[in-house]
Formats: sequence, C-alpha cells, structure tokens
Amino acid sequence: MIYSYCGNSGIQLPKLSLGLWHNFGSVDDFSVATQMVVRAFDKGICHFDLANNYGPEPGSAESNFGRILKNDLASHRDEMFISSKAGHDMWPGVYGDGSSRKNIIASCDQSLKRMGLDYVDVFYSHRYDGVTPVEETMEALIQLVRQGKALYVGISKYPPHLQQKCYDILREAHVPCLLSQYRCSMIDPTAQRENFQIAADNGSGIICFSPLAQGLLTGKYDNGIPEGSRAYRSTGFLQTSQVTPERVEAVKQLAVIAKERGQSMAQMALAWVLNDKRVTSLIIGTSSVVQLDDNLKTLENLDFSAEELKRIDAIVNDPTIWF
Ligand SMILES: NC(=O)c1ccc[n+]([C@@H]2O[C@H](COP(=O)([O-])OP(=O)(O)OC[C@H]3O[C@@H](n4cnc5c(N)ncnc54)[C@H](OP(=O)(O)O)[C@@H]3O)[C@@H](O)[C@H]2O)c1
Repeated sequence: MIYSYCGNSGIQLPKLSLGLWHNFGSVDDFSVATQMVVRAFDKGICHFDLANNYGPEPGSAESNFGRILKNDLASHRDEMFISSKAGHDMWPGVYGDGSSRKNIIASCDQSLKRMGLDYVDVFYSHRYDGVTPVEETMEALIQLVRQGKALYVGISKYPPHLQQKCYDILREAHVPCLLSQYRCSMIDPTAQRENFQIAADNGSGIICFSPLAQGLLTGKYDNGIPEGSRAYRSTGFLQTSQVTPERVEAVKQLAVIAKERGQSMAQMALAWVLNDKRVTSLIIGTSSVVQLDDNLKTLENLDFSAEELKRIDAIVNDPTIWF
C-alpha cells in the first residue's frame, strides 16, 4: 500500500480506502462483507468510510461493520481510521434529515452505538442541506471533537462558495478540516475544477468517491446488465438508464488504452483519479474480494504518458455522452 499525508495534518491515509455504501447492508451477504473488510485491512487499507444511512436498511452497514470489528479486528482499532457522516435522510420526523446541530449530534451518537465504537476518526457533514447556516453545522462538528466523539472533522459535497467559510470557521476553532470528500472520476471531473484547489489551499486532504462511476468504468456492462451488478439490483444507486449504449461504447474504447498499459479498465480509471496529485485517497466500493484484489493492483502503475492522457480526454470529454 502507498500512504500519503492528508493535507496539513499528521494523518496518513492509504491511496485506496474502502467505502461501505453498497454491499455491506442487511440485504447483503455478511460473510462476503466480512471477507472484503478483512482482506482490505490485511492489504493495508486501514481507512473505512461509512455514513449513518448506508445499508439498506439505513444504519445496517454500520451495524455490520461493528460486528466485523468485534468478531475479527477487535484488537486492531488503533491501526484503523474509521469515518462516518450525517446529513441525508435517516430517521422519521423533521430531525432525521439535513445538517442541523440536532441531526449531527444525534447521528454521531447513533453511529457510535451501531459500530460499537467510543469515537470515530473523522465525522463529516455529509452535505450542505441548502438551508442550515454552515456556522451551525460546523459548530456541531466542533462540538463532537470537543466531546471526544470524533478526532477530526470533514465536509462532503460542499459547493465551492461555502467551502471557504467552512474551513475558516473550523480553523478558528482549532479544529481544521481534515478531509474534503467529493465525487470524482474520469467521466465526472467537476470537483477538480474548483473544489480541489480550495481544499488544497486550505490544507484539507481530498478524498474522492465513486472513482469507477459506480462500476460504469469497469467494462462490466459491455454485454448488457449482468445479474447481481449495481445497475441490476433494485437497491443499487446506479440506474439502468445511466448505462447507455454510447457510454458502454466509450468505455470499450477506454479499455483499449487500459489494455495497452497492462491494466484492467477499473485499474486505469482509479489510476487516472490518483494522477491528480492533490488527491489524498480514493474511496472504492467492491462487491467481492476478486474486485478488491483487482483494484489493489492499480498501485503497480500510476503513471500516464501525455499521449495516453490526451487519448483518454478525447473519449471522456464528450458532454453528449456523459453527465
Ligand atoms: N460523500 C458522499 O456523498 C458519497 C457518495 C457516494 C459514495 N461515497 C463513498 O464512496 C464509496 C465508493 O463509492 P462507489 O461504491 O460508488 O465507488 P465505485 O468504486 O465507483 O463503484 C463501486 C462498484 O463498482 C464495481 N466494481 C468495483 N471494482 C470492480 C472491478 N474491479 N471490476 C468490476 N466491477 C467493479 C462494483 O459494483 P457491482 O456491485 O456492480 O459489482 C462496486 O460496488 C462509498 O462506499 C462511500 O463510502 C460517498
């Protein structure tokens, strides 16, 4: 594993982190979930990314992760960096959604209980909810650190015009923002344009989610929607309507470049995001140990020639095909 320092902090994170959004819930096979977490940890992936609502059922990914920790990794807590988040719809009533102090504080308490932890390493505001003043949300995060329930804090998906305000409030309270989490992949590099630089200028680490565009950038949809895949499953966030023939064709063209590089399509897609040196880590999702092992091999070839990048750009920069 390759590790790098997270912004201006003393924390190192693995270049690949494991996310538990899909495949770790109560609808999933617990033994496969266990194998993936244990394998990841054995391979140096010491950062696990969760959120209160991951499942389905919402909350069940944290409960399952807590069971895995207790059963298999109990003595390794200090070797692990565990995150959770609050801000998306989680429980009934007006306090179960959004980024109010009420939601953040109650959510963190619930997450700690589900995972059987005394503290999380980083707690994020999962999103700006469009209404709650960022002062209120950031003060809630600061409170969690003061209470010892979180060691560090982070923000996720905050728009550029609010990022700076978050960093300023947190810095002033001596709780600097450890991580800024944004979606980023070859086909969706939007965050690279503004968010990354604002984060980097403020000494925040940058961690990217959905680097494989939820599986689209693996070639797995080359011949239709395979049974059991994220687009196939009713609980999957990737919709079949997003797997268009034009996108599948474009991924086939990208796969030619991956093959020349001696990589799988997934490996090249992950390496492409890591080629942005501002990025601390990628959060990958997997549904099997085979996928995890495939993705780990990414780290064997992270370099791109200018010619390769140009060819990739020519394929992914078509707004009529991508998002
Ligand atoms: N902050 C936020 O709002 C936010 C939002 C989304 C995600 N996240 C975080 O980011 C994490 C990763 O997101 P993601 O799951 O969308 O990431 P992703 O890496 O883009 O997609 C993961 C999916 O791609 C497929 N896959 C992975 N490796 C493969 C391989 N080698 N070969 C073939 N297929 C492969 C699997 O889908 P199949 O199931 O089809 O096998 C897997 O579940 C989440 O778990 C979560 O922790 C955060």
